[in-house]
Amino acid sequence: VTKIAVLTSGGDAPGMNAAIRAVVRTGIYYGLEVYGVVRGYNGMIEDDIFKMDSRSVANIIQRGGTILKTARSKEFMSPEGRQKAYANLIKRGIDGLVVVGGNGSFTGALKLHEEFGLPCVGIPGTIDKDLYGTDFTIGFDTAVNTAVEAIDKIRDTADAHDRLFIVEVMGRDAGYIALHSGIATGAEHILIPEEDTSVEEVIAGLSEKEKRKKLVNLIVVAEGHKSGGANHIAEIVKQQLPNLDTKVTILGHLQRGGSPSCIDRLIASRMGYHAVESLLQGRHNVMVGILDNAMKYTPLEIAIREKQRFSDEWLKIVKILAS
Ligand code: F6P
Repeated sequence: VTKIAVLTSGGDAPGMNAAIRAVVRTGIYYGLEVYGVVRGYNGMIEDDIFKMDSRSVANIIQRGGTILKTARSKEFMSPEGRQKAYANLIKRGIDGLVVVGGNGSFTGALKLHEEFGLPCVGIPGTIDKDLYGTDFTIGFDTAVNTAVEAIDKIRDTADAHDRLFIVEVMGRDAGYIALHSGIATGAEHILIPEEDTSVEEVIAGLSEKEKRKKLVNLIVVAEGHKSGGANHIAEIVKQQLPNLDTKVTILGHLQRGGSPSCIDRLIASRMGYHAVESLLQGRHNVMVGILDNAMKYTPLEIAIREKQRFSDEWLKIVKILAS
């Protein structure tokens, strides 16, 4: 490998810039040419690729978003789109690719490997923390801290008015943001896609607490929970427990922005460095991850296929602490 490209793809995540910086500077340290691809696989198809140097990544470690921009590319899903994209890499002699993103982004990288033999390495970058083979994904720590800060503020006003707030956080298929932010803010109920809690069970819990005169302020729900989200739950709660003063807050994309936390900057720097090392050492088509504080390399097809194991212990802790 002598010339590598780096791109960010899928939903942005705070810390992606720190990862880009690490890839560029490690590549240059080892004498590689490093290229940036703009707007993920879309930029690869449209030939929006530029050579980067140490200076191109100055003053970005503390910034949210991604200087390379990001996209979810439809065109790249077709063989013609990928052919076009690969031709743009080849004409520059690019013989290695680092992809920062989630599941969909790794699927694209795997396709490039299968169809053209391009060596690729994935770096887990998603606020959802829904990837197998790593304890950390870039952006999760920042997003969950943003959620905690917001929910703390909601709790103040909820408490002042004796209101019930149903707060919806991000997480399409994974409930980690809901679980971590819910526990950290003392939520009475936490609803996540991994668990089958029905709205009826929540209602039963709320009315039981009402009888005990326990004030209930807070339900945290992941957007991907089977109920369909905070608004749906609120409608049912209002119908069945009209005595409660129920409000909804949807945190939304607020959770995706902001300056990355120290942890996100650290893991992004470490993963970026190891992604380049991995390409140089011939460890291709893997996702670099961190498990038990050691680097772990998971084949992309496994990282895509497997689900992160969910610990039931957390759910027990939620029930005990919220009673
Ligand atoms: O995967 C990250 C994520 O923020 C999910 O939690 C959310 O469901 C999705 O992206 C939102 O995507 P978009 O920004 O395209 O609406």
